[in-house]
Amino acid sequence: MSILFSPLSIRSVTFRNRLWVSPMCMYSAVDGVVQEWHHTHLAQFASGGAGLVVAEATAVLPEGRISPRDAGLWNDEQRDAWAPIVRAIHDRGSVAGIQLAHAGRKASTWWPWAEGRGSVSENDGGWTTVAPTVVAFDGFASPAALDADGIDAVVGAFAASTRRALDAGFDVIEIHGAHGYLLHQFLSPLSNLRDDEYGGSLENRARLLLRVVDAVRAEAGDDVPVFVRISATDHADGGFTPDEATIVGGWAAEHGADLIDVSSGGLVAHQQISVFPGYQVSLADTVRQGGRIPVSAVGLITASAQAEQVLADGAADAIFAGREWLRDPHFALRAAHELDADVAWPPQYERAHWR
Ligand SMILES: Cc1cc2nc3c(=O)[nH]c(=O)nc-3n(C[C@H](O)[C@H](O)[C@H](O)COP(=O)(O)O)c2cc1C
Repeated sequence: MSILFSPLSIRSVTFRNRLWVSPMCMYSAVDGVVQEWHHTHLAQFASGGAGLVVAEATAVLPEGRISPRDAGLWNDEQRDAWAPIVRAIHDRGSVAGIQLAHAGRKASTWWPWAEGRGSVSENDGGWTTVAPTVVAFDGFASPAALDADGIDAVVGAFAASTRRALDAGFDVIEIHGAHGYLLHQFLSPLSNLRDDEYGGSLENRARLLLRVVDAVRAEAGDDVPVFVRISATDHADGGFTPDEATIVGGWAAEHGADLIDVSSGGLVAHQQISVFPGYQVSLADTVRQGGRIPVSAVGLITASAQAEQVLADGAADAIFAGREWLRDPHFALRAAHELDADVAWPPQYERAHWR
């Protein structure tokens, strides 16, 4: 019996398997509105057997976009553009999730294939970014520090975007607390130098994230799974640590989160990260062994047997993959075939199921 292809239920949602599509920015939205590209891109993974498809980091406020081309959910036009994409994912048997995000001091940057690098100037359509403290990410423009009203506005925006996501039909909300974006900037002592109730102790640094979890949970009610992606280490001296991540994971559970999606890094340019197959699995294991909340593992998990082993070892409850889905949008069907798991193939593809 494959664990990877056994269903998982969280609250009212049952995932047909545990091989999931990790959120991936496409930098192809127009004024935050997703396009035909997003539709084809996300629907193909559902055809390919994904248990869950999580749509890319989607900004809760315009100034929270990583680039001017990011998707957003701060208005109803954006919500309405997501709805047919969600329907396409559902029609193909997958659960639809969305990652809600605010990029903080890493906002207003050029998309990867733009001619520009680093921060986008106001003349080119960029904006002044916000952060816990006036400390720039290496090479980027300096942010403004959020005041109390600005912090309340961020919390309110996560709630409003959650409402729009649910109205568009999404089944799962993931809060982006990783990769050096705003909520991670508050968590890490390297980017958060505040001396008010949002800085200093771990409890204070986690306050904004936990307020966001509360706000999302209040909007989501009891039935909707809420995930939190965190970077369980900054890979840098003096940064956020796996032990802190384990504690914060437990707090997030108390505040209504259902799963910690364990990633790492992205906070500082001088991070020392060593990348190898399954390089973040041990971090997922650490948070899971804290015993307070289920976790997913992500990061260079590219093969069916490898994914199965992570679950068999008890290091995670589910697997997110990113780039392998870009190489093979039918990753889950292929993995099921390789593991001899009995899954429902789209009838149109049945002939590929035959040996
Ligand atoms: C094109 C691309 C876009 C990405 N965008 C996001 C994103 O929007 N949110 C996020 O949390 N991670 C993002 N990531 C990171 C992936 O979700 C994933 O964590 C990372 O690629 C490691 O997994 P992998 O080795 O299976 O690709 C992105 C990765 C890629 C390749």
